[in-house]
Amino acid sequence: MSAAAWEERLYRAAHPIAYPLLTAVRSPVRRIPGLGIVVTDAALLRSVLLDGRGFTKNGPGASSELWTPVLGPTVLVNMDGADHAALRRQLAPLFTPAWVDDLAARTLADALAALTGRLRDGEPVDLVTEVRHYASIMIAQLVGLGDDVVGDELFRRISAISAYVNLARPRLTARQILAARRVIAELDTAASAAWAGDASTVPGRMRELGLGERDALGAAGAFVLTGTETLVAFIPRLVALLLDTGWLDRLRDDRTRVEAAIAEGMRVTTPTPVMLRSVLRDGRIGGVGVRRGERVILATFAANRALGPFDPIANPAAGLKQLWFGAGPHFCIGAPLAMAQVRLVLGALLDAPAGLRVAARGAARRTLLPGYRSLVITR
Ligand code: HEM
Repeated sequence: MSAAAWEERLYRAAHPIAYPLLTAVRSPVRRIPGLGIVVTDAALLRSVLLDGRGFTKNGPGASSELWTPVLGPTVLVNMDGADHAALRRQLAPLFTPAWVDDLAARTLADALAALTGRLRDGEPVDLVTEVRHYASIMIAQLVGLGDDVVGDELFRRISAISAYVNLARPRLTARQILAARRVIAELDTAASAAWAGDASTVPGRMRELGLGERDALGAAGAFVLTGTETLVAFIPRLVALLLDTGWLDRLRDDRTRVEAAIAEGMRVTTPTPVMLRSVLRDGRIGGVGVRRGERVILATFAANRALGPFDPIANPAAGLKQLWFGAGPHFCIGAPLAMAQVRLVLGALLDAPAGLRVAARGAARRTLLPGYRSLVITR
């Protein structure tokens, strides 16, 4: 099966109902009753993301309905305007390339050296399990826990929070909110102690940057909930794509193409397939009139895919200004950390001998983000 066919399978397994509905939209904008106004054109999509007066993340049908009951009302993802900009400014030094490159390298060095070694020894490695392990280590860093404390069990409970929701119902039931709050409370206890300590931990560094305890805990919770699943879904998909197209070995011979290959991987997979907004005031998106309170589904995956198949040589991703990380005021604040981790994992695979292949794989079913349930690679 081709790389594109596998991607198609992942999307269908994750969203058996919504995906066919969204891919059936052939026009740049269309209203789908019961779902919302679907935008599939990159330029229109960007215009919505940049129009803070016309659209908000914090209204009916937008993702704030998922985050606010769990994390509280002021955690970036559900803020707008001056307060949002001020918190972003305060957090900016946490995500400078130098800081995140160092954080990621320090945090993942041992695990990645072990990965290269196992592949060199001919051991089959399930990349999904592997990347979950890295995510646990990174969560520990983000909330200031010891590496050994965030085990698979806590990770599973964190993942379960996003697994509760789907596109038709992007919010949690009362029982799910309670379960999610219990997980966040556990993380908060650790983050609170770290915030009060020195600047060697992420919460401690946030205090140094002037964040109060409540904002620091909220930000740490948002990083964990938004950043973990995206990477766990993306990295195995990128690796599968590179193996299915023969590009992993090509990159080993010519590492100058690594950045283009990652960008193209982001474009054709679009780890966060859609973004949601709520209409703030009556207006138009392209040729379609929209009314206050309506939900807008920004189908980034459709806009990205319109530029054709994975191609690190022509690199059509270069013209998209990283649309897969969003645009405008809510552009992914964690993008430098995500990129640092992706580069490191890819580097570890490129350090392994040539000729790696996929030995077995299966798609994850009914997950918010399409991805592999398992992806076993070996020599
Ligand atoms: C492959 C990896 C990732 C992808 C594709 C991704 C994608 C995105 C996208 C598309 C948005 C904008 C959503 C919108 O406008 O509605 C976003 C926002 C955000 N991301 Fe990421 N993300 C990734 C990794 C991360 C990581 C590692 C972190 C945390 C450390 C993170 C933290 C955030 C936060 C906090 C926001 C909200 C920013 C705001 O509202 O101001 N993300 N991400």
